[in-house]
Amino acid sequence: MEREAGVALMRRLLQVVEDQRPEMADRFMQVPLECYQSEDLARREREIFETQPLALIAASEIADPHDYVVRSAVDRSILLTRDADGVAHAFLNYCRHRGAEPAAGCGNRRLFRCPYHGWNYDTKGRLTGLPLRDRYEGLDLSDFSLVELPSEERHGLIWVVLRPDSKIDVAAHLGDFDADLASLGCDRMSYYNALPAEPLATNWKSVVEGLLESLHVPFVHTGTFDQNPQAAGVDLAIYDSFGPHVRYSLPMFGRDDVASIRATAEESWDPARALASVWWISPGLLIAEELYGLIYADLTPGSTVSSAVFRYGWLSPTRTAPKGQPSPEEMAARAAQAVGQDQPVWEGCGRGLTHGAHGYALIGRNEKGVQLFHEAIARETGYSGLGYR
Ligand code: FES
Ligand SMILES: [Fe+2]
Repeated sequence: MEREAGVALMRRLLQVVEDQRPEMADRFMQVPLECYQSEDLARREREIFETQPLALIAASEIADPHDYVVRSAVDRSILLTRDADGVAHAFLNYCRHRGAEPAAGCGNRRLFRCPYHGWNYDTKGRLTGLPLRDRYEGLDLSDFSLVELPSEERHGLIWVVLRPDSKIDVAAHLGDFDADLASLGCDRMSYYNALPAEPLATNWKSVVEGLLESLHVPFVHTGTFDQNPQAAGVDLAIYDSFGPHVRYSLPMFGRDDVASIRATAEESWDPARALASVWWISPGLLIAEELYGLIYADLTPGSTVSSAVFRYGWLSPTRTAPKGQPSPEEMAARAAQAVGQDQPVWEGCGRGLTHGAHGYALIGRNEKGVQLFHEAIARETGYSGLGYR
């Protein structure tokens, strides 16, 4: 984040830490259980995931020419490649013959041979050859490339829109947060996977809720995440939103530090050390500052209303640990452990939100990030059922 913006956040956080109260929402929010159950709403949400840019992989996952990764997103198989000229592409991973999936897994290869009848595609998606070629005389192979999706490499991530006839403009999508993401230096970081794309048995929105508050940390992540020593301060945070995106920032200092920070001239403040921020980039991306790198996670709705697909990893600016810090591999392992702790609770929520008879989920005034998220997604789907008290 740019320094001036960081200093402004620090001023707000000093107040929050001094008062030992987070920036709060004005009211409690009631999210009707239908919000997690409705097929109609799920269809409208899916539409959002199909039409907005999704950061499907870190650019470093396909660092070299002919590197590739296959990912699934909103039930589709997507082939991401870097071609001989270093340009990244995203294709629907479906053979133009009869639809089998030519590529699988990840690695480095110049050709993808469809497992069904052996049609070959290159890293630009072109059909370069097929067996029994003489039987296909008169067929122009250039008419049978893999279908390419709009994609853009920006801030060290490969962004994709899942509908081929769409446009992509990631800077416009990120708006005010474009500068924040630029300043993080993701384009110089390497991805360490913590959790491959895993199905979770709960509605995707209930996972987002768990990513946008830290109230659960002392209960669910005992021993994994260092806690702010001012234990009462577990919910201390400030919140900002831009369009559908939410940022929340947490103090990395305690009440005992407030006086000395205030006694120091603002020119000498170091916001990069004094606060950590988490960005929820709608519809499905989480970027969070953690020690010397970033948590990078993405989330899409699963094939049913009560399932989600979640991938979680760690982006590191260095291959070796800075002095006294865990290595990138250890950070990824810690991230994996954390998701392993969240998962059973989230899936419990999945059952509770599907079978519960309690009418609505209550979102506290100190869960402002969760409230901002629900308001943003309701705006986008035109859902009008959120209640307040
Ligand atoms: S479906 Fe791919 S070669 Fe037949
Ligand atoms: Fe968690």
